[in-house]
Amino acid sequence: MWSDTSQREWAAPSAPMPVASAVAISPDISALQPKAQAMTAFLKIEKLGKAYQSDKPVFSDVSFTIDKGEFVCIIGHSGCGKTTILNVLAGLDTASTGHAFMDGREIAGPSLERGVVFQSHALMPWLTVRQNIAFAVRSKWPEWKAPQVNLHVEKHVGMVGLLHAIDKKPSQLSGGMKQRVGIARAFAIQPKMLLLDEPFGALDALTRGTIQDELMTIVRQTQQTVFMITHDVDEAILLSDRILLMSNGNDSVGGYVPGGLAEVVVNPLPRERTRAQLHHLSGYYDMRNHIVDFLVSRAKAH
Ligand SMILES: Nc1ncnc2c1ncn2[C@@H]1O[C@H](COP(=O)(O)OP(=O)(O)O)[C@@H](O)[C@H]1O
Ligand SMILES: [Mg+2]
Repeated sequence: MWSDTSQREWAAPSAPMPVASAVAISPDISALQPKAQAMTAFLKIEKLGKAYQSDKPVFSDVSFTIDKGEFVCIIGHSGCGKTTILNVLAGLDTASTGHAFMDGREIAGPSLERGVVFQSHALMPWLTVRQNIAFAVRSKWPEWKAPQVNLHVEKHVGMVGLLHAIDKKPSQLSGGMKQRVGIARAFAIQPKMLLLDEPFGALDALTRGTIQDELMTIVRQTQQTVFMITHDVDEAILLSDRILLMSNGNDSVGGYVPGGLAEVVVNPLPRERTRAQLHHLSGYYDMRNHIVDFLVSRAKAH
C-alpha cells in the first residue's frame, strides 16, 4: 500500500494554480515545500515513528515541515496516529524514532510557546472563564500585575465573543462556548504554534461552522501558525493551506505495513475564502472528491 501511494502534491485540475502549489510531483516529501521557504521551515518533523509493539509501529517515517503563518491540517482514519503526532509536537509524548523541531530547537517537553486545544475543552471547572484564562496568562508572564492580566484576558475573551459570559463557570456554558474559551486561552498565551486536536468534533454543525469562521478570522489577523487534526474534509479545505493525508498501518500480503503520510494536498483555493462561498469556488469539488476518495479507498487499504 505504502509503495503505491505516491507522495505528491495535488491541485485541482480545473483550478488556477497559485505559485505556491506549482511544484513538480516528487517522491521525496521534503521536496514538497516551496523552495524559497524550505530554509525557513518553522516546524520540522523528521522521520517520526511510534511503536507500542516493536514489530508493529503505528506509523513510521513521517516527515513534513510547516512554515511560519501556515495552517496545516492532518486527516486520516481513527487510530492512524494523528493525536500521537500532535502530542509529540506539544511535548506531551515522545516518538519512538525521529525528531521534531520548532524554531530550530528540538521539542523536548511541554512549553508555553505552544498552545493546545483538545476536543474535550480541558477547562478547570471550579474557575470562571476569566480565571481559567488568567491562570494561563499568569503562567506565561508571572511578572504581570493584575490589571494587565485582566486586560489581556478580556481582549482574548472578546475575540471569541464571550465577554457576556466572562464570569461564568464552565458548567454554565454550552459546548460551543467552552470550546471558544479553550481557543481564547490558547491564543492568550500568544503561542508560536497552535495545536488543535479535533477541537470542533463534539459540536453540532451550526456551532462548528460559526466557530470555524471565528478561528479563521483570528488566525488570519494574528498570522498564527497552526497544526490541526480534523476528520471533517470541508473544515480542512476551508481552513488549511495544506492537508496531510495519513494512512493507517495494515497487514498486507507481504506483512505488516506501518501507517504514515501518504500524500500532501496543497489547497489551491484563494486564501480569502469563506464557508458560505466555498462550494462555489472552482476546484473545490475536485479537491474534496480527491480527499474523500483517499479516505474511502486508500487510507485504510487492507
Ligand atoms: N498508550 C498506548 N498504548 C498502546 N497503544 C496506544 C497507546 N496510545 C495510543 N495507542 C494506539 O496508537 C494508535 C494511534 O492512536 P492515536 O494517535 O490516538 O490515533 P488517532 O488520533 O489518529 O485516532 C491507536 O491504534 C491507539 O490504539
Ligand atoms: Mg485522535
